[in-house]
Amino acid sequence: MCGIAGYIGKEPAAPIILDGLSKLEYRGYDSAGIAVFDGESIHMEKAMGRLRVLDEMTRHGALLPGFCGIGHTRWATHGCPSDTNAHPHMNAENTIAVVHNGIIENYGKLKRRLEQKGYRFASETDTEVLAHMLTEYYRGDPVEAIEKVMHRVEGSYALGIMFLDHPHHIYAARKDSPLIVGTDDTGKFIASDVPAILQYTRTVYYMENEEIVCLSNEHTRFFNIDGESIEKTPATIDWDIHAAEKGGYEHFMLKEIHEQPKAIRDTISPRIREDDIVLEELGLSDDAIRALQKITIVACGSAYHTGVTGKYVLEELARIPVEVDLASEFRYRNPLYAPGSLLIIVSQSGETADSLAALRDAKAHNCHVLSIVNVVGSSIARESDAVLYTWAGPEISVATTKAYSCQLTVFYLLAMKFARLRGTITPRRFQTLLDALRLLPDQIEGLLSQKEKIQFFANHYLATEHIFFMGRGIDYALCLEGSLKLKEISYIHSEAYAAGELKHGTISLMEEGTLVVAVATQDALYPKTVSNIVEVKTRGAFVMGLTTLPHRDMENHADYVLYVPQTENCFMGSLSIIPLQLFAYYVSLGRGLDVDKPRNLAKSVTVE
Ligand code: G6P
Repeated sequence: MCGIAGYIGKEPAAPIILDGLSKLEYRGYDSAGIAVFDGESIHMEKAMGRLRVLDEMTRHGALLPGFCGIGHTRWATHGCPSDTNAHPHMNAENTIAVVHNGIIENYGKLKRRLEQKGYRFASETDTEVLAHMLTEYYRGDPVEAIEKVMHRVEGSYALGIMFLDHPHHIYAARKDSPLIVGTDDTGKFIASDVPAILQYTRTVYYMENEEIVCLSNEHTRFFNIDGESIEKTPATIDWDIHAAEKGGYEHFMLKEIHEQPKAIRDTISPRIREDDIVLEELGLSDDAIRALQKITIVACGSAYHTGVTGKYVLEELARIPVEVDLASEFRYRNPLYAPGSLLIIVSQSGETADSLAALRDAKAHNCHVLSIVNVVGSSIARESDAVLYTWAGPEISVATTKAYSCQLTVFYLLAMKFARLRGTITPRRFQTLLDALRLLPDQIEGLLSQKEKIQFFANHYLATEHIFFMGRGIDYALCLEGSLKLKEISYIHSEAYAAGELKHGTISLMEEGTLVVAVATQDALYPKTVSNIVEVKTRGAFVMGLTTLPHRDMENHADYVLYVPQTENCFMGSLSIIPLQLFAYYVSLGRGLDVDKPRNLAKSVTVE
């Protein structure tokens, strides 16, 4: 939601912080700010708009001399985007500066109390209460003041704090919002995510909930919420530094679309050994898998869509009943946890607040939780009983592509593994599926080489106001994602429908020229979807059909046809998503929009 970066060391702090924030802009980009200790006072600059406004205003930090500072890129929750609401927030005396990611849920009550004591608020943010509370509790020991504040606030936070009284120190704390600490020979860093510090160091400490850190040139000291000193062990990040750069592509999204074959190979290859699927990380015995009665998949956004595909594939192959739920619904509906059930949380970032809350609820009910996560060491990964990592590498574009594709393949692996153990598919069928799975990355490469055809089609639809996606079975799950991808980056209204459901209402919206994307890759359902194409065409719709080569007769029904190669029906989503991702990309590009940072969205949603 918001990005935090901070630095203390031997180098000028502001340029390092601004560089760090630029790698975190995917987390929020409506305003940005920075505070640096300049030898006498805490000098703060804030600017509404993209980070480049602040960057230019401070001449890439040159106008903010000093070796210790904190910065923030914001995604507004409380208070509209504005210079005043941008972080850092300071107390009236300008002696304490705070940056915050998360939401202080009881800020209304806290604010009223502070106002009664005479504190005046400059902004509409929840964060400002923290600056005033720290002032209220500060008696010379910053850690003690932070502790006291942490005991009193409810909600989630990652904090970066500076005290003028302790000018060569940065303090940080977290609860339910990510924060890492990096160290190298020249300095120390705090950041919301690894890319912010990757060019400086690979040695990081993952802050746990309710921990505090104090960084100075001499030391890195960790404390718990009661101010007791704690020991932490650093981890080493092994990411390729170029993974978080655009590498010659115009946008991260296009780069990440092209990285899908590699990401899928990296995700499946280590798990296929001697024609078997080995999932050592699963944390379930073979007997437990055989005894599984039910699987519940919980996630948000695109990760939820992979869960919808996962349901089809798991039920088809492993014959286990699967329920898929949106985390924001699941967490508040008093869910039932049947004995012998498995909960799967899917999340690229591993930090999504609703998914994390669902995980905690399941664990509190003694349900075994397996997560499918991309970011190593993230909260969901750490709190789950078992993790299957997707090896997509860092995904920067807000619209997910490669992480989505890797999540799909993890569901294929799980379904095949479970099916084999439960004896619901023959060894021969298992082998056929395995061969098909191995072939997917090459097939995606082939599809990517034909992207001009999709660009051509996309360019004809730049001015469209509404688009409908329809399909059945796995094609429907795929349509959910194709539609979301398009709407999030092109701002065109689009909806996905189970094709059979169209006649129960949505067909009334069909008129001359309405664009309908009809996905029909499932052999058994093909004639049914074709009937639906005929229905919408009769009402004047213009239909783009997406199918496989054996179904050439699609040309008799649809106005424009895109073909994807044939694979096993249950893996089709991995191929048909590629043209839909490219379609969304080229429509957004053609409309001159900010592909990687669509308005109002953030990649990692760490607030409710
Ligand atoms: C945000 C992102 C989506 C993502 C969703 C869930 O809305 O913009 O791309 O699918 O969060 O995120 P997660 O990190 O849990 O997969």
